Amino acid sequence: MSSINYAEKIPNNVNLQNDRTLQRALEHWQPHFLQWWHEMGPSDFETADVYLRTAISVDAQGWAHYGTLKMPDYRWGIFLADPIADRKIGFGDQMGQPVWQQVPGEYRSTLRRLIVTQGDTEPASVEQQRKLGHTCPSLYDLRNLFQINVEEGRHLWAMVYLLHAYFGRDGREEAEELLARHSGDANKPRILTTFNEPMTDWLSLFCFTYFTDRDGKYQLKSFAESAFDPLSRTCRFMLTEEAHHMFVGETGISRVVKRTLDVMKELGTDDPARIRAEGAIDLPTIQRYLNYWCSSSLDLFGSEISSNSAANFASGIKGRPDEPTYQDHVLRDVAMTIETPQGAETVPMLNALNEVMRESYLKDCEIGVKRWNRMIERAGRESRLTLPSSRFRRQIGPWAGQPVDTHGKLIAREEYERRLEDWIPSERDRAFVHTLMQRVIEPGKMAAWIAPPERGINNLPVDYDYVHLQ
Ligand SMILES: [Fe+2]
Ligand SMILES: [Fe+2]
Repeated sequence: MSSINYAEKIPNNVNLQNDRTLQRALEHWQPHFLQWWHEMGPSDFETADVYLRTAISVDAQGWAHYGTLKMPDYRWGIFLADPIADRKIGFGDQMGQPVWQQVPGEYRSTLRRLIVTQGDTEPASVEQQRKLGHTCPSLYDLRNLFQINVEEGRHLWAMVYLLHAYFGRDGREEAEELLARHSGDANKPRILTTFNEPMTDWLSLFCFTYFTDRDGKYQLKSFAESAFDPLSRTCRFMLTEEAHHMFVGETGISRVVKRTLDVMKELGTDDPARIRAEGAIDLPTIQRYLNYWCSSSLDLFGSEISSNSAANFASGIKGRPDEPTYQDHVLRDVAMTIETPQGAETVPMLNALNEVMRESYLKDCEIGVKRWNRMIERAGRESRLTLPSSRFRRQIGPWAGQPVDTHGKLIAREEYERRLEDWIPSERDRAFVHTLMQRVIEPGKMAAWIAPPERGINNLPVDYDYVHLQ
């Protein structure tokens, strides 16, 4: 089951050739996808030879197979993790019953909405990153960007397969809509706010892949627990690809911090103006980018108190990330205290699951921050990078629109407005970062604002010609 059939028009490990109706429907969608890639994917790099990995099977040996190809020739397809024999529902009111191979009628619209919302983020991020290739800091980074882009394209395929295979005509219509909405489009924007934010610099890309792709990881982990088995299997395989995206974010920010520390040492200063004059990004600016993308990504988990999260858990549709690590999988008799601007509120645990997820997400976000701070400490510097409070700059939940500082303290609105410039990138910060975005495409060379990576891709040297431009 785990090997992938590449002889077909659509590579797959779901025996697509045995279901001619589904195969024809997906083959009808395929040229629309390729047209979308041509119009909305990385601009101007269609003839470049890119060193990319492609899955040839879903097991540990085959999922990362490397080769050089042009991006429009990438074999996007449908890959599900192998089924688990006799898998049972692992949480909620139907715990212990067999998982579903079809969508139960009563959950059809909920599941469709969740799959569409997840699916929408995948092409959205490709659209957001469309122009970044023009300002890449190195060929190594350019290749990583394109690897992420083709995989997000494949993640769209993963969700479109579910829509086509299990949701009939509605699903096919949703699949078309996934190509019709566009990031930042005034008339037909993407569903979630974060995926409509423009991304015009690489520091934002690294923050996005660190924070926003990590939200993706947590969403996929909670769907990997789902009682709807095809969704679980799809998400389990997507998670193997997703790890690289967060790697790009974490190492990207590490390399920016390293370069900044080197410049601070050379100049013997931590004066932002002098560091900027040397073409590096001062730590306070990096902190403001972290604040911006972290707070923006926190909203993706939804409201702290949510009846949808309760219903989705109780029905078995969406579990907690790493559900088996918890003791209680039904949660009918537990409560959680949630802090709101009006004071502490005790709610049934089922209604607080978005917050449970947000808390474990933030713990995962801390890992990189600790690593960056160790670098700063080793360089003999006093300052530290931090994550903002989960109440800061929220647009969803009880803290939405509240004047809260980065430590989570309610302050006067006038003070909040005045100090916001200290907490998130100002127009001047963004303008400065933009001046650094000059394309560097000589193999092994890096832009002045970022240190080289510790190693290359797949044991190749850092100065390998990862993207051969025609
Ligand atoms: Fe993805
Ligand atoms: Fe991703």
